[in-house]
Amino acid sequence: MLLSNLLIGALCLTGASADSDTTGPDKNGKYWIHGNGISASFIRYGASVSNLIVKDKYGIPRDLVGGFDNATYYEIDKQHPHFGGVPGRYANRIKNSSFEIDGVTYHVLPNENPTAAHPAGVDTLHGGPKGWDWRNFTVVSQSNNSITFSLVDPDGEQGFPGEVVAYITYTLGDLTWDLRMVAIPTTKKTPIMLSSHIYWNLDGFANNETNTALNHTLYLPYSGQRVDADSILIPTGDIVANQPGSVNDFWSAPKALGDSFNDPEIHGNCGFNCTGYDTCYLVNREQNGPHDWRADGGFVARLQSPWSGIQLDVYTDQEAFQVYSCNGQNGSLTLKETQGLFDNPKFPRTIPQYGCVVLEVEDWIDAINQPSWQRSKKQIYEPGGDPYVLQASYRFSINDTTRSDGHY
Ligand SMILES: *[C@@H]1O[C@H](CO)[C@@H](O)[C@H](O)[C@H]1NC(C)=O
Ligand SMILES: *[C@@H]1O[C@H](CO)[C@@H](O)[C@H](O)[C@H]1NC(C)=O
Ligand SMILES: *[C@@H]1O[C@H](CO)[C@@H](O)[C@H](O)[C@H]1NC(C)=O
Ligand SMILES: *[C@@H]1O[C@H](CO)[C@@H](O)[C@H](O)[C@H]1NC(C)=O
Ligand SMILES: *[C@@H]1O[C@H](CO)[C@@H](O)[C@H](O)[C@H]1NC(C)=O
Ligand SMILES: *[C@@H]1O[C@H](CO)[C@@H](O)[C@H](O)[C@H]1NC(C)=O
Ligand SMILES: *[C@@H]1O[C@H](CO)[C@@H](O)[C@H](O)[C@H]1NC(C)=O
Ligand SMILES: *[C@@H]1O[C@H](CO)[C@@H](O)[C@H](O)[C@H]1NC(C)=O
Ligand SMILES: *[C@@H]1O[C@H](CO)[C@@H](O)[C@H](O)[C@H]1NC(C)=O
Repeated sequence: MLLSNLLIGALCLTGASADSDTTGPDKNGKYWIHGNGISASFIRYGASVSNLIVKDKYGIPRDLVGGFDNATYYEIDKQHPHFGGVPGRYANRIKNSSFEIDGVTYHVLPNENPTAAHPAGVDTLHGGPKGWDWRNFTVVSQSNNSITFSLVDPDGEQGFPGEVVAYITYTLGDLTWDLRMVAIPTTKKTPIMLSSHIYWNLDGFANNETNTALNHTLYLPYSGQRVDADSILIPTGDIVANQPGSVNDFWSAPKALGDSFNDPEIHGNCGFNCTGYDTCYLVNREQNGPHDWRADGGFVARLQSPWSGIQLDVYTDQEAFQVYSCNGQNGSLTLKETQGLFDNPKFPRTIPQYGCVVLEVEDWIDAINQPSWQRSKKQIYEPGGDPYVLQASYRFSINDTTRSDGHY
């Protein structure tokens, strides 16, 4: 056991230093940057994060994000789980693959929930069949601790109006990872909503007692409400309360992701016949008055794993937060060389159902189809107006809290 941990450590350290002290891609097509106690790699495809390495409470480096060993494989794997990428031009789902701006109805390409009448699907997920995370971004600059990608999304691509130019900057600091996304429409009014779609496992998929993330504790202190959604996860227009003690209550106190799995309401909570979470929680910070989104204590989400002791605090200027508990995973995605156990046949080197959790900073999903929410200023952008901006800071620490029931 110890031997394999040391091996993982050695692998990580090699990946994070020898390969990568210079800029440009390594032999696997990955661009490495470094901070204090943290290293990360990125690929051009989807401007995706491919490795993110911090040490656990024993000092063992852990790679916390789902991904593949090389950049090439992201385009080969048919499942396309949006692994660590930037969904765009409009993240999450667009009802009926259409929306209206200034009285004009636009139709974008559908790519989810096919039916006999609509074989391509009845809605659009993450910007369409060739959304941003199906394309190569350009690396415009890289330093030891920062990298910036750009993308030009042409007029009419996937059905969206007008050209959009985007810059995605990732920067590492003292156990911190900062994201800054800027998108500028250059020719027409268009919806823009971005996010970052990472599959987290704070144990580096190496927990030797459970291979799920259901023991990870989640705290969403500002999320007393969520967006109600139908059986295919399209918002109904209703905003609903997360009553204290209910399955969607992560705000009144921190709660492990699996803690409500005995509550019958967890079944169907993430759509038809789906058990778990795929939910857009609102972030209600505004009632506290003007605030700096970076300010200490103002995290919108805290995820902590007692097994590794690794804690992630998410700070952001965004007003919604999607949580997906990897309900759809089934062991068909392999772990990277930097992850998992090498000598424990109990767990295969793959991502099982509930083996991860996706946390997405974003705006209110499908607000372009919910005029009563009055969010057009946060959703529709025009040439010469304010750019779309998403900022977030992911801050890591060690929190050695174990669960009172003795479970990890
Ligand atoms: C890059 O940053 C890391 C962490 O701050 C530091 O240890 C390393 O020396 C830096 N490398 C270069 C080439 O500046
Ligand atoms: C690339 O990564 C995939 C998945 O991690 C792996 O199956 C494949 O062998 C790798 N290819 C090369 C050339 O390393
Ligand atoms: C869905 O879009 C189609 C065109 O793609 C349109 O004919 C239909 O009216 C729309 N349905 C709804 C409920 O908006
Ligand atoms: C992305 O770049 C890689 C490497 O240059 C290339 O093989 C691939 O075809 C490109 N993919 C797309 C979708 O442009
Ligand atoms: C499980 O992993 C922990 C943390 O790395 C380690 O201390 C422990 O010895 C391992 N247990 C077994 C049974 O391998
Ligand atoms: C440590 O994690 C627990 C469980 O998530 C949480 O209740 C507690 O506030 C955290 N403590 C610190 C100091 O961050
Ligand atoms: C519901 O999900 C279960 C477990 O994944 C599966 O066995 C069953 O066939 C599903 N039922 C329907 C109606 O899809
Ligand atoms: C597992 O999930 C993938 C992706 O959704 C799917 O393509 C595959 O058929 C599933 N495999 C099984 C055995 O259900
Ligand atoms: C939590 O961890 C305990 C102890 O390792 C394990 O027995 C249990 O199955 C885990 N629970 C979940 C929901 O993963």
